[in-house]
Amino acid sequence: MKGVARNFFALAIIYAICGMVLGLSMAISQDHGQMPVHAHTMVAGFLMSSVFAFFYHLFPAAAASRLAPVHFWLTTLSGIALLVSLYFFLAGNPAIEPVTAIASVLFFVGMLLFAWIALPVLRRA
Ligand code: HEM
Ligand code: HEM
Repeated sequence: MKGVARNFFALAIIYAICGMVLGLSMAISQDHGQMPVHAHTMVAGFLMSSVFAFFYHLFPAAAASRLAPVHFWLTTLSGIALLVSLYFFLAGNPAIEPVTAIASVLFFVGMLLFAWIALPVLRRA
């Protein structure tokens, strides 16, 4: 595994560790107030990044696209901004909501970019 695939898999591992630490702290404290942050860190972070990693690994033509690193950085930066800002929002800081909103839209744009990269490769495969 190399390039964008390796980067996405490293990102997935970081998400898994952070998400599980948050899950354990929720379980130990019996305060599940951060459940949406935990859930999205695990599925939108860990699981999706893993799927992207394996896709780019299985389809080198997609990994060779000049847009693939753009997809990686857009997804990474917007995902981290989304989760960190949602954490502070749920911790009682409503002023941060616009950051969460913009990050959510950019995360979605990252998914559209992935579709743009992946679908032609799948059609040719
Ligand atoms: C150290 C391991 C983990 C701990 C301690 C943990 C803990 C928790 C806790 C306390 C909740 C809140 C439950 C509730 O309030 O109803 C939760 C929810 C959730 N967890 Fe975890 N979790 C762990 C690992 C995972 C993993 C590996 C995934 C997925 C890959 C995951 C996905 C989710 C999801 C999607 C929810 C939301 C479920 C719902 O909508 O009701 N968790 N977890
Ligand atoms: C633009 C990105 C996304 C936005 C804005 C978003 C928004 C939301 C919202 C508003 C909820 C309801 C939360 C609640 O009632 O407390 C939710 C729940 C959930 N979403 Fe997402 N979501 C996004 C991406 C994703 C992705 C990519 C996945 C899976 C790969 C996912 C999985 C889930 C799950 C499992 C739940 C139920 C657990 C929970 O209540 O936190 N979401 N999402």
